[in-house]
Amino acid sequence: MGPWGVFFEGFLRNPVMVGSIVPSSRFTINRMLSRVDWDNCKLFVEYGPGVGTFCRPVLNRMRRDGMLLVIDTNPQFIEYLRRTIKDSRFVAVHGSAADVEDIVRAHGHEKADYVLSGLPFSTLPDGVGPAIAAATHRVIRKGGAFLVYQFTPKARSYMAKHFKRIDNGLEPLNVPPCFMWWGWKDEENEDAAAA
Ligand SMILES: C[S@@+](CC[C@H](N)C(=O)[O-])C[C@H]1O[C@@H](n2cnc3c(N)ncnc32)[C@H](O)[C@@H]1O
Repeated sequence: MGPWGVFFEGFLRNPVMVGSIVPSSRFTINRMLSRVDWDNCKLFVEYGPGVGTFCRPVLNRMRRDGMLLVIDTNPQFIEYLRRTIKDSRFVAVHGSAADVEDIVRAHGHEKADYVLSGLPFSTLPDGVGPAIAAATHRVIRKGGAFLVYQFTPKARSYMAKHFKRIDNGLEPLNVPPCFMWWGWKDEENEDAAAA
């Protein structure tokens, strides 16, 4: 089965967790990734990669000694990704984004430079979205960012509790059109919050 078939089957099996019928468009991918400083990105983490719509574009942009660590709760998607993406910089983990700190440490890193989320925040079980936003803020290094795309504004309210500066976007050429946010972990904001 091709990627669209695997994704659609994943949606039919678990519509609440997958949250979308088709993968993100190339317009969404290009806009989301356009804000990343690739020269200074050694660890890029992705939540909810699905069938890998973002994975290849990320790997195409990433430095040779970087790592793309993806985390998904759906074992079929993880198995598909491991089978189809053969790149030594790519690691696919079956698990929850809520455990990102342990997963990052288990792969030899203290911090992530960027975290990208395609999670369906509005349909996650109670408390999971806020917990993921908090853990993500802790795991990102100063100067890094949390990149989020979603069909509803829910995720932004979770991000705003931790990220003082959030840039907003909207991509109409996606099914359905989606919101985009880039939450920046600015050094000056973090130092002021810690003082
Ligand atoms: C809308 S799909 C994103 C698909 C893909 N990123 C794209 O752009 O086409 C959401 C994905 O989040 C995954 N997911 C849901 N809850 C999760 C969690 N707590 N941790 C990690 N992945 C999760 C689902 O299994 C699904 O693959």
